[in-house]
Amino acid sequence: MGLIVGHAAVMLWAEPVSYNREVRPILSNNCFFCHGPDEETREAGMRLDVREAAVAENDGVRAIVPGDPGASALVQRVTAAHVEDRMPPAGSKKELTAEEIAILQRWIAEGCL
Ligand code: HEC
Repeated sequence: MGLIVGHAAVMLWAEPVSYNREVRPILSNNCFFCHGPDEETREAGMRLDVREAAVAENDGVRAIVPGDPGASALVQRVTAAHVEDRMPPAGSKKELTAEEIAILQRWIAEGCL
């Protein structure tokens, strides 16, 4: 990391985001109920708990495009300006903090390590 010059954003972070330590708990607490292992409560036919499913195209939508947060529906949805588009849905009583959103964006930008 010390060798990277001219990329201030990268130098601020000593280590890449860890899926197990940082990302999984966020998704697990806020998304897996509706996008996880339980078929009964799964919404939009989309799983975020299995990598292959999360990066796959699902009805033309890719929740996660490693390395490209802007193309990732997950990022579009957690940052959506309109409350009807935002995830988690308002009615779910769940909400991401700005820090949690930043972690998800960084993780995808770093290629989902
Ligand atoms: C209470 C249930 C619920 C929770 C919790 C929830 N979602 Fe959703 N999600 C839905 C429903 C219902 C839809 C389909 C309607 C829509 O597209 O808004 C959806 C759609 C989506 C889509 C679009 C899928 C597609 O094929 O178009 C994405 C991406 C998404 N959710 C991401 C997330 C993320 C990330 C979280 C956690 C931060 C989350 N959701 C939490 C219910 C939920």
